[in-house]
Amino acid sequence: MANRTLTIIKPDSVRKGNFGKIITRIEADGFTIVGIKKIGLAQKQAEAFYAVHRERPFYRDLVKYMASGPVYVAALQREDAVTRLRKLMGATDPKKADKGTIRAEFGESIEQNAIHGSDSDDNAKIEIAFFFSESELTA
Ligand code: CMP
Repeated sequence: MANRTLTIIKPDSVRKGNFGKIITRIEADGFTIVGIKKIGLAQKQAEAFYAVHRERPFYRDLVKYMASGPVYVAALQREDAVTRLRKLMGATDPKKADKGTIRAEFGESIEQNAIHGSDSDDNAKIEIAFFFSESELTA
């Protein structure tokens, strides 16, 4: 069934000029972009988006990094969107990501790992609603 996921092309990717290459891969894998925008995450927004990680030792650094420069946020649609995007991204740590995945190719480190993708259908709905109103999304 066609469903949706949320991606963030992270500050390290945008800084290095890798947005185009990454989004091309996403489209080539059959995703339709149903909404996209370039934004600078405010510290408070980054804190709220990653609130589930607030007890983790890396939380402060992660928030600082995500607010360090512009990102692209996009709502993506295709069959099994969440699973397919996670496969295309590769493991969280670029060093452990399979060859050919986005993180293996473009990620710097476990923190600066090029791209975010929702980890479940329920979180995808929450994360898409975090950045987009329904009227901003078109299949
Ligand atoms: P993401 O998929 O956006 O979800 C949470 C983010 O936290 C993750 O990608 C990484 O950017 C970051 N992260 C996860 N684990 C670690 C870690 N052990 N050290 C530093 N950053 C991490």
